[in-house]
Amino acid sequence: MATKLAALIVLVAFLAEPPACEGDIICFNGWLRLPIQDPRLCPPGSRMRSGIPRQLVPRPSGLGLGFGYYNNRSSRSSYCPRAEGIVRATVSKAVAAEPGIGAGLIRLFFHDCFVRGCDASVLLTETNSNNSDTEREGQPNKNSLRGLEVIDAAKAAIEAACPGRVSCADIVAFAARDASSILSNRRINIRMQGGRFDGRESFANETDQLPGPFSGATVLQSNFRAKGLTSDEMVTLSGAHTIGRARCAFFSSRFSEMDPAFAAKLRARCDDDTNVNQDHVTPDVLDRRYYQDIIDRKVLFTSDAVLNSTETIKQVKENANKAGMWERKFERAMENMGKIGIKTRRGKDAEIRKVCWRVNN
Ligand code: HEM
Ligand SMILES: *[C@@H]1O[C@H](CO)[C@@H](O)[C@H](O)[C@H]1NC(C)=O
Ligand SMILES: *[C@@H]1O[C@H](CO)[C@@H](O)[C@H](O)[C@H]1NC(C)=O
Ligand SMILES: *[C@@H]1O[C@H](CO)[C@@H](O)[C@H](O)[C@H]1NC(C)=O
Ligand SMILES: *[C@@H]1O[C@H](CO)[C@@H](O)[C@H](O)[C@H]1NC(C)=O
Repeated sequence: MATKLAALIVLVAFLAEPPACEGDIICFNGWLRLPIQDPRLCPPGSRMRSGIPRQLVPRPSGLGLGFGYYNNRSSRSSYCPRAEGIVRATVSKAVAAEPGIGAGLIRLFFHDCFVRGCDASVLLTETNSNNSDTEREGQPNKNSLRGLEVIDAAKAAIEAACPGRVSCADIVAFAARDASSILSNRRINIRMQGGRFDGRESFANETDQLPGPFSGATVLQSNFRAKGLTSDEMVTLSGAHTIGRARCAFFSSRFSEMDPAFAAKLRARCDDDTNVNQDHVTPDVLDRRYYQDIIDRKVLFTSDAVLNSTETIKQVKENANKAGMWERKFERAMENMGKIGIKTRRGKDAEIRKVCWRVNN
């Protein structure tokens, strides 16, 4: 019952959105699942807004970032040797109390980096433009992000130790690294650089650059390519769906495509709750189980299931079968994700925020 209601609410929200296609640019982006693909809404030849970028997007270089960035004594404006330790302690405490927060922190990093680069724009409720429809209001984030209070707590402790030196963007990146280490029982050790500055703008409408649960393989690949990441990295990073939770409205339309016993369990759980665990066996362990689940048709979203496509099934099988392979790839892919669209010097669009949810005055 709760599920049906949730599905209805989501549907109504979709119908209240402006038409999915406007002129020849805006089309279905993977978060809105249209009940009928009306050809008038998406005329042939119209391009998806999150469509395949024409020009080759360069790989993020990470130029300006460094390991141990806050440990450099000769750089006074960024010296804060306790910073990474404070993040680690804050994350450890929060994840011990509630492992789902660790999942939230890993996803927060993804949602930050894919929109305006890794600049903590995802955290803002008060921006330079004074707009209230920030990224947090965007469909992928609203009523969904977790772990924001962990970032705020780490930031407060760091500001007390060395004010004005450590960016919120770096705290988000370090927190994702630490959550990955803890939830994988130390099997995943990401080398995460520092040196990102915080942005001053955040717009809800830009969250359409994030792929959605109804996205197909081509859209997933092009969304990642648009950020300079490869299809292989897309497959690798999707493995994060081995932890955390998901709302039933995002997958209840595809029970019939799933393993029947798995679907039956989900259906029952969705009758009692709006959320389920993404991984049905080890929901709080960051492991490679996701890939076997794809093969066994025990994943939730269309965007998970389509990784069985001819182009990506090879990586899925390798990740499922070769011990340690996915873990190493995940470490590198997270490091690369942390290089997307970074700002590495102070400027009119880049600062070290005092508080993570609002820009400095
Ligand atoms: C490939 C395209 C992706 C799509 C379409 C996608 C979509 C989603 C959706 C719909 C949810 C459920 C949200 C909710 O019901 O509130 C979710 C949860 C989650 N996603 Fe993704 N995601 C993708 C990639 C990623 C990546 C790259 C990461 C991180 C590396 C990630 C990490 C997570 C985590 C950890 C959760 C659980 C969050 C929690 O429990 O709070 N996802 N994702
Ligand atoms: C430390 O900071 C100084 C001054 O900004 C810089 O010249 C030097 O390259 C930095 N060292 C490292 C290892 O990053
Ligand atoms: C935003 O609000 C502040 C303070 O009220 C004001 O100084 C600033 O000019 C406003 N900025 C814009 C772009 O409207
Ligand atoms: C996104 O929203 C902002 C205001 O919140 C607006 O100024 C901008 O034009 C919008 N962009 C698009 C592409 O709709
Ligand atoms: C991939 O999975 C979907 C849904 O589980 C299924 O309909 C489709 O036949 C599978 N495709 C391949 C190539 O295995």
